[in-house]
Amino acid sequence: MKPIWINKVREKQDKSGGIIPPTEIPTMKSLDKKSSNPAKDNIKSEKKEAGHAAKKSNITREQAWKLLKKYNKESFHLQHALTVEGVMRWYAKELGYADEEEFWGITGLLHDIDFELYPEEHCKRAPELLREAGVSEDMIYAVCSHGYGICSEEEPRLEMEKVLFASDELTGLIWSCALMRPSKSTMDMEVKSLKKKFKDKRFAAGCSREIISQGAERLGWEMDELFDKTIQAMRSCEASVAEAMEKEKK
Ligand SMILES: [Fe+2]
Repeated sequence: MKPIWINKVREKQDKSGGIIPPTEIPTMKSLDKKSSNPAKDNIKSEKKEAGHAAKKSNITREQAWKLLKKYNKESFHLQHALTVEGVMRWYAKELGYADEEEFWGITGLLHDIDFELYPEEHCKRAPELLREAGVSEDMIYAVCSHGYGICSEEEPRLEMEKVLFASDELTGLIWSCALMRPSKSTMDMEVKSLKKKFKDKRFAAGCSREIISQGAERLGWEMDELFDKTIQAMRSCEASVAEAMEKEKK
């Protein structure tokens, strides 16, 4: 979707002189640990939807990163893309789709590919940019579906598309909250403080609470579950995103 919260977050970043590296980041290995409960894993794999496993990207992660940078020069957009990629990778593993992690991640990386150059035609220009690079139609549909009801008519159908729809806007709100914290990080953020900011409509006002609520509803999750999981997902990639952005500065 059109990331309408961008200006608010950008203001915060500008005031602090660019991307703020996280401080005192503990290891996140614990968050990525595989479940030690085989019964739980079985339930997860049974949850998998037909058609999911056959999804192919037709583009490597390296090619996708180059493609993204061909159309996106602003560090804010690159950081957002990397964050959503990391979040999608975490969700793929969390929800029992570890074998599709690459597909989920690259979709997250490319989801806003047309926004910087064509903000008024967001999700409308993405198919041609992606098709030109040989990206699969499955991935193109998934990218477009994140703007359903706002700038696209492709409805999120698969769980990965619903996760992208729900978490894209939410990552913006969570990062805005993180920047308000002394740590400038999600690592010490709790669901209750995010809930407070979610209810405060004046905070990051451009970040649509309606879209986030719709996203949770599509997934059949309580808001708390979406908040909790997405905070964990952002923690899992905060350090690697900061590191990648540092590299881009050089
Ligand atoms: Fe986005």
